[in-house]
Amino acid sequence: MANAPRPEKPLLAVLSGHRVDPPPVWLMRQAGRYLEEYREIRKRTRDFLELCYTPDLAVEVTLQPLRRFALDAAILFSDILVVPHALGAEIEFVEGEGPCVRPVRDASDLARLDLAHLHERLAPVYETVRRLRSAVPEKVALIGFAGAPWTLAAYLVEGRGSKEFLEPRLLARRDPNLFARMIDLLTEAVTEFLSAQVEAGAEALQLFDSWAGVLPEAELRRWCLDPARRIVSILRRRHPEVPIILFPRGVGASLKLFASEGGAQALSLDTSVPMAWAAAEVYGPGCTALQGNLDPVALLGPEPDLLAEARSILRAGASRPHIFNLGHGVLPMTAPERVQALVRYLKSGDV
Ligand code: CP3
Repeated sequence: MANAPRPEKPLLAVLSGHRVDPPPVWLMRQAGRYLEEYREIRKRTRDFLELCYTPDLAVEVTLQPLRRFALDAAILFSDILVVPHALGAEIEFVEGEGPCVRPVRDASDLARLDLAHLHERLAPVYETVRRLRSAVPEKVALIGFAGAPWTLAAYLVEGRGSKEFLEPRLLARRDPNLFARMIDLLTEAVTEFLSAQVEAGAEALQLFDSWAGVLPEAELRRWCLDPARRIVSILRRRHPEVPIILFPRGVGASLKLFASEGGAQALSLDTSVPMAWAAAEVYGPGCTALQGNLDPVALLGPEPDLLAEARSILRAGASRPHIFNLGHGVLPMTAPERVQALVRYLKSGDV
């Protein structure tokens, strides 16, 4: 790795361990409801999953934020729940409520999920990636993604979004063997899904573990870190050139575990993590890059405060290969003008 030529695309250069100034920027949920051109397309599709499975529309929606803002990455437009859906889970996105899943809570529920049709059902997503690879601008990197097994299991067991995810936490304690089988199935599905995205043209991958933060350390290791490590090690073997970003949201000091044992090239930091602490403490073998971590709520406030907050993150992250991003996704009520002001500021190099 040390002698490999520095990649041309800034995001890939950072992920291969180089510092780039100004740092590359992209935003989680950079495509979506805060953009009127997204809402326009969304109106035309009956349900949200249909949008994810229609390559023409998914490509268009992926590219929308790139036409407005000087972003360094495109993230495939899809959703983490396409994987459980492709395994046979019954999932619906209900307007104003988010995902609704027929809960998977016992062995017979779990027996209804299998890998048999995974690639067939996800083929439209791979087609979207293939088309995007030739459609993204020259210096823009194409990021593929998946939800991590724990976060997917959390939605499957709970049946809906939640602040606590009590049902999956309880099931994992009451019947750890059953829960382990669910995590193993999801781990294999996620590995194959990400691998197929790389074969279709994804140049970097992000694993979203949005609900890692509800687990204590022993369970965090078993349900989040171990599966992440298995996924990363298989992908690294199959596709050594494709870097991986882990996003174990809300895990605090346990980020150090993910850096030292996760095997990925980068960690994405949520809003609660002090960037200066992470820059000093969160690293591991081959894991040098940090991504993050502006509060998405800062995009709703006054512009001078937004830019000051961005500047302090840039300064705190400057000692490391850094990808500027939010600590979580862009909120639907965000004004695109604020995103524009932020990206222009970051690109001005004038900090
Ligand atoms: O621009 C991008 O970041 C790419 C697309 C993307 C979406 N979801 C589109 C989406 C990505 C990377 C995701 C990831 C995702 N999905 C996560 C992990 C990141 C995180 O936010 O923690 C999670 C937990 C989900 C599950 C999910 N999907 C929920 C809870 C919801 C409902 C809440 C909401 O924001 O609406 C979704 C729906 C969803 N996924 C929308 C979009 C644009 C909105 C659906 C709509 O347009 O009606």
